[in-house]
Amino acid sequence: MSPETAYLAPEGFVDDLVRELGDGVREVHGRLVIAEGPERPAAWAANVWREPRRIPSASIGDAAKKLRAIQRNWALYDLAHHRRAALIVENLPKVSAKPIAFGQPLPAAPLGSWTLLAPDLMLAAPSCSSAFPNGEPQFVEDRTSSPSRAYLKLWEAFTLLGVTPMKDELCLDLGSSPGGWTWVLAGLGARVISVDKAPLDPRIAAMPGVEYRSESAFGLDPRSASVPAVDWLCSDVICYPPRLLALVQRWIAAGKARRFICSVKFQAETDFAVIDAFKSIPGSRLMHLHHNKHELTWVKLS
Ligand SMILES: C[S@@+](CC[C@H](N)C(=O)[O-])C[C@H]1O[C@@H](n2cnc3c(N)ncnc32)[C@H](O)[C@@H]1O
Repeated sequence: MSPETAYLAPEGFVDDLVRELGDGVREVHGRLVIAEGPERPAAWAANVWREPRRIPSASIGDAAKKLRAIQRNWALYDLAHHRRAALIVENLPKVSAKPIAFGQPLPAAPLGSWTLLAPDLMLAAPSCSSAFPNGEPQFVEDRTSSPSRAYLKLWEAFTLLGVTPMKDELCLDLGSSPGGWTWVLAGLGARVISVDKAPLDPRIAAMPGVEYRSESAFGLDPRSASVPAVDWLCSDVICYPPRLLALVQRWIAAGKARRFICSVKFQAETDFAVIDAFKSIPGSRLMHLHHNKHELTWVKLS
Protein backbone atom coordinates (compact mmCIF):
# COMPACT_ATOMS: atom_id res chain seq x y z
CA MET A 1 0.00 0.00 0.00
CA SER A 2 1.25 3.53 -0.74
CA PRO A 3 2.17 5.67 2.29
CA GLU A 4 -0.60 7.11 4.42
CA THR A 5 -0.98 9.66 7.19
CA ALA A 6 -3.57 9.82 9.96
CA TYR A 7 -5.04 13.13 11.09
CA LEU A 8 -6.90 13.50 14.39
CA ALA A 9 -9.72 16.03 14.22
CA PRO A 10 -10.55 18.17 17.27
CA GLU A 11 -13.81 17.22 18.99
CA GLY A 12 -16.70 18.24 16.67
CA PHE A 13 -14.64 19.01 13.55
CA VAL A 14 -14.29 15.69 11.68
CA ASP A 15 -16.37 16.93 8.74
CA ASP A 16 -14.22 20.04 8.39
CA LEU A 17 -11.06 17.93 8.42
CA VAL A 18 -12.43 15.45 5.86
CA ARG A 19 -13.42 18.32 3.58
CA GLU A 20 -10.00 19.95 3.99
CA LEU A 21 -8.14 16.72 3.16
CA GLY A 22 -10.30 16.18 0.09
CA ASP A 23 -10.01 13.23 -2.29
CA GLY A 24 -7.11 11.54 -0.52
CA VAL A 25 -9.23 10.38 2.44
CA ARG A 26 -9.27 6.57 2.72
CA GLU A 27 -10.85 5.79 6.08
CA VAL A 28 -12.50 7.58 9.00
CA HIS A 29 -12.39 6.02 12.49
CA GLY A 30 -14.13 8.30 14.99
CA ARG A 31 -12.07 11.49 14.89
CA LEU A 32 -9.14 9.81 13.13
CA VAL A 33 -8.99 10.39 9.38
CA ILE A 34 -6.57 8.31 7.33
CA ALA A 35 -5.48 9.87 4.05
CA GLU A 36 -3.14 8.95 1.24
CA GLY A 37 0.37 10.26 1.01
CA PRO A 38 2.82 12.01 3.33
CA GLU A 39 1.84 14.66 5.87
CA ARG A 40 0.10 17.74 4.45
CA PRO A 41 -0.66 20.98 6.27
CA ALA A 42 -4.14 20.56 7.77
CA ALA A 43 -5.63 23.38 9.81
CA TRP A 44 -8.38 21.15 11.22
CA ALA A 45 -5.98 18.49 12.56
CA ALA A 46 -5.25 18.53 16.29
CA ASN A 47 -2.51 15.96 15.76
CA VAL A 48 -0.94 14.33 12.73
CA TRP A 49 0.21 10.71 12.94
CA ARG A 50 3.13 10.27 10.53
CA GLU A 51 3.50 6.95 8.74
CA PRO A 52 1.11 5.01 10.98
CA ARG A 53 1.57 1.25 11.07
CA ARG A 54 -1.07 -1.45 11.41
CA ILE A 55 0.20 -3.82 14.08
CA PRO A 56 -1.60 -7.12 14.77
CA SER A 57 -1.46 -8.24 18.40
CA ALA A 58 -2.28 -11.64 19.87
CA SER A 59 -2.95 -10.40 23.43
CA ILE A 60 -2.88 -7.36 25.72
CA GLY A 61 0.68 -8.19 26.75
CA ASP A 62 1.73 -8.66 23.15
CA ALA A 63 0.26 -5.31 22.12
CA ALA A 64 2.07 -3.45 24.94
CA LYS A 65 5.32 -5.30 24.18
CA LYS A 66 5.14 -4.32 20.51
CA LEU A 67 4.57 -0.64 21.36
CA ARG A 68 7.37 -0.65 23.98
CA ALA A 69 9.73 -2.20 21.42
CA ILE A 70 9.23 0.87 19.21
CA GLN A 71 9.65 3.62 21.86
CA ARG A 72 8.83 4.57 25.46
CA ASN A 73 6.06 7.20 25.28
CA TRP A 74 2.63 6.52 23.83
CA ALA A 75 -0.71 8.33 23.98
CA LEU A 76 -3.92 6.41 23.40
CA TYR A 77 -6.64 7.76 21.15
CA ASP A 78 -9.49 5.91 22.84
CA LEU A 79 -11.61 5.03 19.83
CA ALA A 80 -13.13 1.64 20.70
CA HIS A 81 -12.56 -1.55 22.69
CA HIS A 82 -12.05 0.74 25.68
CA ARG A 83 -11.47 -1.92 28.35
CA ARG A 84 -8.84 -3.71 26.29
CA ALA A 85 -7.16 -0.41 25.39
CA ALA A 86 -7.06 0.58 29.09
CA LEU A 87 -5.40 -2.73 29.96
CA ILE A 88 -2.77 -2.17 27.27
CA VAL A 89 -2.12 1.32 28.72
CA GLU A 90 -1.54 -0.29 32.14
CA ASN A 91 1.26 -2.29 30.57
CA LEU A 92 2.97 0.76 29.07
CA PRO A 93 5.32 3.23 30.82
CA LYS A 94 3.41 6.12 32.43
CA VAL A 95 3.32 9.35 30.41
CA SER A 96 2.89 12.55 32.43
CA ALA A 97 -0.58 14.04 32.05
CA LYS A 98 0.22 17.00 34.32
CA PRO A 99 -0.82 20.44 33.03
CA ILE A 100 2.16 22.63 32.19
CA ALA A 101 2.83 26.12 33.48
CA PHE A 102 2.80 28.85 30.81
CA GLY A 103 6.40 29.62 29.90
CA GLN A 104 7.54 26.02 30.13
CA PRO A 105 8.98 24.75 26.83
CA LEU A 106 7.24 22.03 24.83
CA PRO A 107 7.81 18.51 26.17
CA ALA A 108 10.88 17.26 24.30
CA ALA A 109 10.40 13.46 24.51
CA PRO A 110 8.92 11.90 21.36
CA LEU A 111 5.28 10.98 21.95
CA GLY A 112 3.66 8.39 19.72
CA SER A 113 -0.06 7.81 19.26
CA TRP A 114 -1.98 4.59 18.98
CA THR A 115 -5.48 3.22 18.88
CA LEU A 116 -7.28 -0.08 18.55
CA LEU A 117 -8.92 -0.43 15.14
CA ALA A 118 -10.06 -3.93 16.19
CA PRO A 119 -9.41 -5.94 19.37
CA ASP A 120 -6.40 -7.55 17.71
CA LEU A 121 -5.27 -4.70 15.47
CA MET A 122 -3.52 -1.49 16.50
CA LEU A 123 -2.80 1.58 14.43
CA ALA A 124 0.31 3.24 15.84
CA ALA A 125 2.56 6.13 14.84
CA PRO A 126 5.79 6.80 16.77
CA SER A 127 6.12 10.28 15.25
CA CYS A 128 3.32 12.83 15.63
CA SER A 129 3.04 16.56 15.03
CA SER A 130 1.94 17.42 18.57
CA ALA A 131 4.02 17.06 21.73
CA PHE A 132 0.75 16.64 23.68
CA PRO A 133 -1.53 13.60 23.95
CA ASN A 134 -4.08 13.87 21.12
CA GLY A 135 -2.90 17.42 20.47
CA GLU A 136 -4.51 18.75 23.65
CA PRO A 137 -2.18 20.97 25.71
CA GLN A 138 -3.39 21.55 29.26
CA PHE A 139 -2.17 24.51 31.28
CA VAL A 140 -2.08 25.30 34.97
CA GLU A 141 -4.82 27.89 34.74
CA ASP A 142 -4.95 31.31 36.34
CA ARG A 143 -8.58 31.65 37.31
CA THR A 144 -8.28 34.95 39.13
CA SER A 145 -6.04 37.38 37.20
CA SER A 146 -7.50 37.20 33.70
CA PRO A 147 -10.98 38.63 33.07
CA SER A 148 -11.73 35.97 30.42
CA ARG A 149 -10.61 32.47 29.48
CA ALA A 150 -9.51 33.65 26.03
CA TYR A 151 -5.98 34.00 27.44
CA LEU A 152 -5.61 30.22 27.06
CA LYS A 153 -5.61 30.57 23.26
CA LEU A 154 -2.69 32.97 23.40
CA TRP A 155 -0.81 30.81 25.93
CA GLU A 156 -1.29 27.82 23.66
CA ALA A 157 -0.23 29.66 20.49
CA PHE A 158 2.93 31.06 22.11
CA THR A 159 3.79 27.65 23.57
CA LEU A 160 3.40 25.88 20.22
CA LEU A 161 5.32 28.58 18.35
CA GLY A 162 8.09 28.71 20.97
CA VAL A 163 8.13 32.49 20.87
CA THR A 164 6.45 35.35 22.77
CA PRO A 165 6.53 39.12 22.58
CA MET A 166 9.66 40.46 24.27
CA LYS A 167 9.81 43.14 26.94
CA ASP A 168 8.94 46.57 25.49
CA GLU A 169 7.86 45.22 22.10
CA LEU A 170 4.72 46.92 20.84
CA CYS A 171 1.58 44.79 20.50
CA LEU A 172 -1.74 45.82 19.03
CA ASP A 173 -4.56 43.83 20.62
CA LEU A 174 -7.68 44.15 18.46
CA GLY A 175 -11.01 43.10 19.95
CA SER A 176 -9.39 43.10 23.35
CA SER A 177 -12.31 43.40 25.78
CA PRO A 178 -12.52 42.32 28.56
CA GLY A 179 -8.72 41.91 28.45
CA GLY A 180 -7.46 38.32 28.61
CA TRP A 181 -5.04 38.72 25.70
CA THR A 182 -3.92 42.19 26.88
CA TRP A 183 -3.28 40.64 30.31
CA VAL A 184 -0.99 38.01 28.72
CA LEU A 185 0.86 40.52 26.53
CA ALA A 186 1.36 43.13 29.27
CA GLY A 187 2.33 40.36 31.69
CA LEU A 188 5.20 39.49 29.33
CA GLY A 189 6.43 43.09 29.64
CA ALA A 190 5.22 44.19 26.20
CA ARG A 191 3.60 47.55 25.52
CA VAL A 192 0.01 47.05 24.42
CA ILE A 193 -2.39 49.22 22.44
CA SER A 194 -5.66 47.56 23.34
CA VAL A 195 -8.54 48.29 20.95
CA ASP A 196 -12.23 47.54 21.46
CA LYS A 197 -15.44 49.51 21.61
CA ALA A 198 -16.33 47.53 24.71
CA PRO A 199 -14.39 48.46 27.85
CA LEU A 200 -11.36 46.74 29.29
CA ASP A 201 -11.56 45.34 32.78
CA PRO A 202 -10.22 48.24 34.94
CA ARG A 203 -7.54 45.98 36.47
CA ILE A 204 -6.19 45.25 32.97
CA ALA A 205 -6.46 48.87 31.81
CA ALA A 206 -4.32 49.85 34.82
CA MET A 207 -1.49 47.43 33.99
CA PRO A 208 1.84 49.12 33.14
CA GLY A 209 2.31 49.54 29.40
CA VAL A 210 -1.39 49.25 28.51
CA GLU A 211 -3.07 51.97 26.45
CA TYR A 212 -6.78 51.40 25.81
CA ARG A 213 -8.47 52.88 22.74
CA SER A 214 -12.24 52.79 22.52
CA GLU A 215 -12.66 52.42 18.76
CA SER A 216 -13.18 49.93 15.96
CA ALA A 217 -10.30 47.73 14.81
CA PHE A 218 -11.39 48.45 11.25
CA GLY A 219 -11.12 52.20 11.69
CA LEU A 220 -7.33 52.05 12.19
CA ASP A 221 -5.64 52.73 8.87
CA PRO A 222 -2.14 51.23 8.91
CA ARG A 223 -1.11 53.57 6.05
CA SER A 224 -1.66 56.56 8.30
CA ALA A 225 1.47 58.15 9.76
CA SER A 226 -0.34 58.44 13.09
CA VAL A 227 -0.65 54.62 13.35
CA PRO A 228 2.61 53.17 14.68
CA ALA A 229 4.37 50.08 13.31
CA VAL A 230 3.83 47.17 15.69
CA ASP A 231 5.84 44.07 16.53
CA TRP A 232 2.73 41.95 17.01
CA LEU A 233 -0.77 42.38 15.65
CA CYS A 234 -3.11 40.23 17.71
CA SER A 235 -6.77 39.98 16.84
CA ASP A 236 -9.59 38.19 18.57
CA VAL A 237 -12.24 40.43 16.99
CA ILE A 238 -15.62 38.84 16.37
CA CYS A 239 -16.25 39.53 12.68
CA TYR A 240 -16.89 37.81 9.37
CA PRO A 241 -13.68 36.06 8.25
CA PRO A 242 -13.39 37.98 4.92
CA ARG A 243 -13.37 41.21 6.92
CA LEU A 244 -10.45 39.96 9.02
CA LEU A 245 -8.65 38.79 5.88
CA ALA A 246 -8.96 42.27 4.35
CA LEU A 247 -7.69 43.81 7.60
CA VAL A 248 -4.53 41.67 7.74
CA GLN A 249 -3.92 42.23 4.03
CA ARG A 250 -4.00 46.00 4.67
CA TRP A 251 -1.51 45.66 7.51
CA ILE A 252 0.80 43.43 5.45
CA ALA A 253 0.64 45.79 2.45
CA ALA A 254 1.48 48.76 4.70
CA GLY A 255 4.40 46.84 6.25
CA LYS A 256 3.25 48.01 9.68
CA ALA A 257 3.09 44.67 11.55
CA ARG A 258 6.00 42.26 11.95
CA ARG A 259 4.07 39.33 13.38
CA PHE A 260 0.43 38.29 13.51
CA ILE A 261 -1.74 36.06 15.70
CA CYS A 262 -5.39 36.25 14.70
CA SER A 263 -8.51 34.24 15.52
CA VAL A 264 -10.53 33.48 12.38
CA LYS A 265 -14.02 32.99 13.74
CA PHE A 266 -16.65 31.18 11.74
CA GLN A 267 -20.41 31.51 11.89
CA ALA A 268 -22.56 28.39 11.53
CA GLU A 269 -20.75 27.40 8.31
CA THR A 270 -16.99 27.08 7.94
CA ASP A 271 -15.76 29.41 5.17
CA PHE A 272 -13.31 27.25 3.19
CA ALA A 273 -12.59 29.94 0.60
CA VAL A 274 -11.30 32.20 3.36
CA ILE A 275 -9.28 29.33 4.82
CA ASP A 276 -7.53 28.91 1.45
CA ALA A 277 -6.91 32.64 1.23
CA PHE A 278 -5.32 32.76 4.70
CA LYS A 279 -3.25 29.65 3.94
CA SER A 280 -1.90 31.24 0.77
CA ILE A 281 -0.38 34.22 2.62
CA PRO A 282 3.38 33.56 2.43
CA GLY A 283 5.14 32.60 5.66
CA SER A 284 1.93 31.96 7.53
CA ARG A 285 0.16 29.04 9.09
CA LEU A 286 -3.39 28.25 10.09
CA MET A 287 -4.15 25.93 12.99
CA HIS A 288 -6.92 24.81 15.28
CA LEU A 289 -5.81 25.26 18.86
CA HIS A 290 -7.20 23.00 21.56
CA HIS A 291 -8.60 26.15 23.17
CA ASN A 292 -10.27 27.33 19.96
CA LYS A 293 -13.98 26.87 19.43
CA HIS A 294 -15.41 27.13 15.87
CA GLU A 295 -12.41 29.19 14.88
CA LEU A 296 -8.87 28.83 13.60
CA THR A 297 -5.76 30.71 14.61
CA TRP A 298 -3.75 32.30 11.81
CA VAL A 299 -0.14 33.15 12.59
CA LYS A 300 2.59 34.83 10.60
CA LEU A 301 5.96 35.23 12.25
CA SER A 302 8.04 36.77 9.46
C1 LIG B 1 -13.93 37.09 21.93
S1 LIG B 1 -14.03 38.72 22.43
C2 LIG B 1 -12.34 39.08 22.76
C3 LIG B 1 -11.80 38.49 24.03
C4 LIG B 1 -10.44 39.04 24.36
N1 LIG B 1 -9.44 38.62 23.40
C5 LIG B 1 -9.98 38.62 25.72
O1 LIG B 1 -8.95 37.97 25.83
O2 LIG B 1 -10.63 38.98 26.71
C6 LIG B 1 -14.30 39.56 20.94
C7 LIG B 1 -14.30 41.06 21.04
O3 LIG B 1 -14.36 41.62 19.73
C8 LIG B 1 -14.89 42.92 19.89
N2 LIG B 1 -15.23 43.53 18.61
C9 LIG B 1 -16.24 43.24 17.77
N3 LIG B 1 -16.19 44.08 16.69
C10 LIG B 1 -15.12 44.89 16.88
C11 LIG B 1 -14.52 45.93 16.14
N4 LIG B 1 -15.03 46.33 14.97
N5 LIG B 1 -13.42 46.54 16.62
C12 LIG B 1 -12.88 46.15 17.81
N6 LIG B 1 -13.41 45.17 18.55
C13 LIG B 1 -14.50 44.54 18.10
C14 LIG B 1 -16.08 42.69 20.83
O4 LIG B 1 -16.46 43.90 21.44
C15 LIG B 1 -15.46 41.66 21.80
O5 LIG B 1 -15.01 42.31 22.96
